[in-house]
Amino acid sequence: MYSFSLNSPKYKSNVPQHNLLSVMMIPTLVCLVTTIFKSNFCWSLITSFLFTLLAFLAFSLNYWLVPGGFAWRKYHNRYKHHAKLRGPMGWPILGTLPEMGSLAHRKLADMATSLNAKRLMALSFGTNPVVISSHPETAREILCGSGFVDRPVKESARMLMFERAIGFAPYGTYWRHLRRVATTHMFSPRRISDMENLRQRVIDEMMTRTWKEMKNKGMVEVRNILHEGSLSNMLESVFGVDNSLSSKTKDVLGDMVMEGYDLIAKFNWEDYFPFRFLDFHGVKRRCHKLATKVNNVVGQLVEERKKHGNYIGQHDFLGTLLSLPEEEMIGESDVVAILWEMIFRGTDTVSILLEWIIAMLVLHQDVQTKAREEIDMCINTNRHVRDSDILNLPYLQAIVKEVLRLHPPGPLLSWARLATHDVHVDKVVVRAGTTAMVNMWAISHDESIWEDPWAFKPERFIKEDVSIMGSDMRLAPFGAGRRVCPGKTLGLATVHLWLAELLRHFIWAPVQPVDLSECLNLSLQMKNPLRCQVIRRYNTTP
Ligand code: HEM
Repeated sequence: MYSFSLNSPKYKSNVPQHNLLSVMMIPTLVCLVTTIFKSNFCWSLITSFLFTLLAFLAFSLNYWLVPGGFAWRKYHNRYKHHAKLRGPMGWPILGTLPEMGSLAHRKLADMATSLNAKRLMALSFGTNPVVISSHPETAREILCGSGFVDRPVKESARMLMFERAIGFAPYGTYWRHLRRVATTHMFSPRRISDMENLRQRVIDEMMTRTWKEMKNKGMVEVRNILHEGSLSNMLESVFGVDNSLSSKTKDVLGDMVMEGYDLIAKFNWEDYFPFRFLDFHGVKRRCHKLATKVNNVVGQLVEERKKHGNYIGQHDFLGTLLSLPEEEMIGESDVVAILWEMIFRGTDTVSILLEWIIAMLVLHQDVQTKAREEIDMCINTNRHVRDSDILNLPYLQAIVKEVLRLHPPGPLLSWARLATHDVHVDKVVVRAGTTAMVNMWAISHDESIWEDPWAFKPERFIKEDVSIMGSDMRLAPFGAGRRVCPGKTLGLATVHLWLAELLRHFIWAPVQPVDLSECLNLSLQMKNPLRCQVIRRYNTTP
């Protein structure tokens, strides 16, 4: 369906596209008139209906048959003499939307390869024009240039208040202010190191649960443990360790986060068509309900803290936001939105990545043993792993990089970018309002970039030190440029520390064949939750 490009012989047909309609219309009209004269009235009605239908189809085809699909029609008319983009025609009206879904990253990678459009491919998502890069050079142009600094806002994200938080806030003064506050008070090296004790306590709790589950059930459901640990870690970073939330509040917040993931991942026609009655799944109604709940629950926590007035000198994010100097103060509803965003973004990314890592280590026992030997060499048994130990664990870091390469939590870099003005990418004009995505999964599986790209070989990162923080587009799982993930250092610090502890205390073994099938919702997670067995290495394990 999508093997159609500007160079295809079909496209180079001698019949100009604009004349297609008139060419089809002439025989239609001739037939119509003849039929009306020759046969009885009923037949003439049926035939005229059929011919009108044919003419309509011809018109639709004429509109739809452009590379990239019909959202690119105006573009092709306007830039007739410019270099053009390749892309699938997609379906009438829907464009390439039917190809998206739980394996969109793979389908888009296949399309780009078959159309020879890795550098840049044009698509239509309903009426929205989209470009997608599967190449490091154009990925850099999109992520690091000044053209794509906004994000297309999904209706669900807007309703769930994310438009007032960092991730979806339009690029500008407000976004810069939020980002500066978060970078200084939530993601700074000092703050990450202040939270080391918290990360250690949470991993102790997770290990206790792991062992208890192993003893009780004979196997461990890794996902739940990781998710709850990650949620607990984010909640305490945001609301403070000393201001412990009741377990009921924690449960309510956990449920709200899960509901939010479900809603953001839901397909909503209104995101792709300019009509306000296409919400067939009731996403808006559910979002409205959830946003009210978030405002109540998080808003109440903010209120309580204000009432106690004990936030001065406290190091949690809420305390910091409330004690900002007057000129930097953020409005109360925006405080709620930012806190909610931190919990929302920080929870699943970390737990999903760890689940993939453990799955790969269960499958590759040799890699697991080697990582454990490295840890045993550096850290003695009667103390916690510390953030500062991670520098001495290059193999462990290489494992994390290799899993980020093979199973990036955001294979399409999760949140797309939106062109704020007309911009050149790869010498082609991309118009303001176009959505841009980078298929990081395609780049990190590209045979022309990576040797043996499908194999799990952490050693490749020992041979060559590839930065994953956004400077090297061969592997940029946290994005790059002005909207690069601000939580990348915190996320990696958490994953490294927890992984080192999990490997030091347990041997991870399969309980059933490990199924590496993927499912892309907001993040790319394992389709079937990982179940495995653990063997305890020390009796002292928490
Ligand atoms: C393994 C962990 C993580 C991964 C793989 C990840 C990945 C990403 C990616 C791909 C983006 C889009 C970047 C771009 O457009 O260039 C992003 C943005 C973002 N991430 Fe992360 N992330 C992780 C952890 C976190 C954590 C722990 C937090 C917060 C606690 C966080 C908060 C955010 C925010 C607020 C944005 C939006 C930035 C903006 O638009 O200015 N992330 N992340």
